[in-house]
Amino acid sequence: MAGKILIIGACGQIGTELTLKLRDLYGNDQVVASDIREGSEELMSSGPFEAADATDATRIEALIDQYNISEVYLMAAMLSATAEKAPMKAWNLNMDSLFHILNFAKDKKIEKVFWPSSIAVFGPTTPKNDTPQTTIMEPSTVYGISKQTGERWCEYFHDKYGVDVRSLRYPGIISYKTLPGGGTTDYAIEIFHEALKNKAYTSFLAEDTGLPMMYMDDAIKATVDIMEAPSEKIKVRSSYNLSALSFTPKVLAEAIQKEIPEFKISYEPDFRQKIADSWPSSIDDSQARVDWQWKHDFDMQSLVKEMLAGVSEQLKTTK
Ligand SMILES: NC(=O)c1ccc[n+]([C@@H]2O[C@H](COP(=O)([O-])OP(=O)(O)OC[C@H]3O[C@@H](n4cnc5c(N)ncnc54)[C@H](O)[C@@H]3O)[C@@H](O)[C@H]2O)c1
Repeated sequence: MAGKILIIGACGQIGTELTLKLRDLYGNDQVVASDIREGSEELMSSGPFEAADATDATRIEALIDQYNISEVYLMAAMLSATAEKAPMKAWNLNMDSLFHILNFAKDKKIEKVFWPSSIAVFGPTTPKNDTPQTTIMEPSTVYGISKQTGERWCEYFHDKYGVDVRSLRYPGIISYKTLPGGGTTDYAIEIFHEALKNKAYTSFLAEDTGLPMMYMDDAIKATVDIMEAPSEKIKVRSSYNLSALSFTPKVLAEAIQKEIPEFKISYEPDFRQKIADSWPSSIDDSQARVDWQWKHDFDMQSLVKEMLAGVSEQLKTTK
């Protein structure tokens, strides 16, 4: 790598684990974390951190110059459920931050960009099962609209200006190290905390709401793999479908009951149900598997075991 890596939005659910992984792989000083808030103790103490607002192009440019940055991972965004409460703010954050980075890449200030998209790019008219890479996309949430627009711009900047931008349509990402940031799949994380604390959980999605999901380690592996792949293998420059698991709250509850038999689940769907209903139940990611040999490791029961072990360890230290 010619220069260092800058991660914007490094203190979030995915950014935290991504930063730690990249520091592991390339060296602590090679990976600069930035965010508008401070992160976990491990993140803050393991390498450089800079407070920076992703919408402030001057500040981001100064960091690129100061650290000789050649790769940017733009993880800052307003997520689906939060964005519905502040649509214009979400639009401005999600789009402005992306334009700044794409323009820096166009001007050759940086060489490579990672920008995450989401299954939210799909909408109610999209085929729900095994959703193909290329299909009808009429997203009905402001988050989905911003991600779909972002995908179009990524492809445009690649095709027109040769920008090396790579992207994945993450499904719901499940992890315990950092709390999720206001997405529609957050139930699949809260459920583990409540199962261990109270042996009961009230889901904000209905029991039969199937959604694509993935354990964090697989999401990080996919991110590292797509960024390390030779440029010619990256045939999709909008964003790749990415998939591991697909399950409903009921099926997840049953998997938890195998480990905690007393666990009980009830259902009180709220405004997030409508968002979930507009998304696919399962995703066809065969193109990622063919183009850059994507393969997931975690199945349902291994995810449940990892989550229960991780969350219970955390509960012990916070008592
Ligand atoms: N977590 C998921 O399940 C999921 C699924 C699909 C796509 N994604 C995408 O992955 C990316 C990371 O998601 P996440 O779950 O880690 O989100 P998160 O909300 O946990 O983290 C986002 C981080 O960005 C920071 N941030 C917010 N506004 C900022 C600003 N103006 N400048 C700098 N930093 C700012 C926040 O402080 C936070 O630490 C996002 O683009 C998200 O849309 C996430």
